[in-house]
Amino acid sequence: MEKLLKIWPFLVASVLLVALMIVTLMVFGVKVAPKTPWPEVVNFRPHLDHKPFFKQPFSSGEDVTKKCLECHKDIFLLHLLPKRRVV
Ligand code: HEC
Repeated sequence: MEKLLKIWPFLVASVLLVALMIVTLMVFGVKVAPKTPWPEVVNFRPHLDHKPFFKQPFSSGEDVTKKCLECHKDIFLLHLLPKRRVV
């Protein structure tokens, strides 16, 4: 009997701890990983089709670059730009 008196605070603490865990799970729920990640994945807009911009043949690689630079003054930074999200 004396032994029981010594351990009862630990028994009460254990019961309270389990109750706290159950309440926490009930409040916050258990998050299950989604079956597919796609709904979370950001949609990027499709690349701009450049075909209509190039009607004439190019004689050299430099000509191609010059053509690009007509519209893209900062062409070397293009790859660093963050892709925009489709809204
Ligand atoms: C007649 C103008 C024009 C020319 C010439 C041109 N572009 Fe573009 N380019 C654009 C426009 C407009 C966009 C879309 C920019 C935006 O949405 O802000 C673009 C977008 C891009 C992008 C971003 C990705 C995309 O597809 O939206 C890249 C990379 C790019 N161009 C590369 C090139 C390269 C390389 C060349 C040369 C071979 C070139 N462009 C020539 C007008 C041009």
